[in-house]
Amino acid sequence: MSTNSLLILPGDGIGPEVMAEVSRIIAWFADRRGLKFDVNEDLVGGAAHDVHGVPLADETMEKAQSVDAVLLGAVGGPKYDDLDFSVKPERGLLRLRKEMDLFANLRPAVCFDALADFSSLKREVVAGLDIMIVRELTSGSYFGEPRGIFEENGERVGINTQRYTESEIDRVARAAFDLARKRAGRVCSMEKANVMESGILWREVVQAVRDADYPDIELSHMYADNGGMQLVRNPRQFDVIVTDNLFGDLLSDVAAMLTGSLGMLPSASLGAPMENGRPRALYEPVHGSAPDIAGQGKANPCATILSFAMALRYSFDAGDEADRLEAAVEKVLADGVRTADLMQTEGGSPASTRKMGDAIIAALEASL
Ligand code: IPM
Ligand code: MG
Repeated sequence: MSTNSLLILPGDGIGPEVMAEVSRIIAWFADRRGLKFDVNEDLVGGAAHDVHGVPLADETMEKAQSVDAVLLGAVGGPKYDDLDFSVKPERGLLRLRKEMDLFANLRPAVCFDALADFSSLKREVVAGLDIMIVRELTSGSYFGEPRGIFEENGERVGINTQRYTESEIDRVARAAFDLARKRAGRVCSMEKANVMESGILWREVVQAVRDADYPDIELSHMYADNGGMQLVRNPRQFDVIVTDNLFGDLLSDVAAMLTGSLGMLPSASLGAPMENGRPRALYEPVHGSAPDIAGQGKANPCATILSFAMALRYSFDAGDEADRLEAAVEKVLADGVRTADLMQTEGGSPASTRKMGDAIIAALEASL
């Protein structure tokens, strides 16, 4: 029997408190479902900088390369605002993504029925929403060269480069088409082919991959600005959206808010298969480190717990157990257990991070 290895990187802010609930859930799956994990824990972001002077130690990077999956909490906080750019907490996360070559970032935006009234959009627009954004994660303007702040004609100029090779577009397009095959079979690709050459190439390559190998997929193209507008106008028109690194960063935050709270959204970042056939993988909530509420036991652990559900599905071939965990979260929300981010202004007292974890574990027990 192969062992399942996990590296847990709680990181900064609310990261450690939400990850503590995931650790209890991992223990539950070991005890009650015989799903054993070999778990190692380490530092990332500001927490790593405090100890090592860098946001990700080489030794931690090596561990990340050797496990089946990495589970990350969040990075960053005001304490680190004045650090040099090269050692900011975010650089630790970007190094993991780049060196593990996690090119396909899956960001599902699902509106749980119990939360449809929390969205800033009307219930009838978001109820039943289930879309998947596939964001390219290792290239584009986040990593393109040249980059930097330079002197030119007596003034400074800031440069970042949007750069995509055909193979980079090809592989993320395939990831999106493969996912669409397991869903409603529709992909919408977003770029700015009206103003950017990289967008023209993006559109051509995505279409060519579809025509050659995915004739069963319905592919459409949209300019990314229109895509943002369509996401708030009528989000349910989409099934899978595939887009580049920067547009994906923006559009996934927009999609997140459709679901009611950033505290609910998980993500999976996947790369090429390793020797054991499992993809290189990192799972993390879409929300950040929320320094304003860190350490108070108020944070919603659902996004991180649902990220672990994605790990069960994509890394550990345990789709049934992922379904079980997702259903437990949905049940708890339907029962009205809510952290503060999911409360309407008046009435009721919010559940703590720990209470939410307790309720989800109770719902898992009840599912047996
Ligand atoms: C995200 C975040 C990151 C990004 C930051 C923390 C570097 O916003 O995962 O969406 O910009 O990719
Ligand atoms: Mg972002």
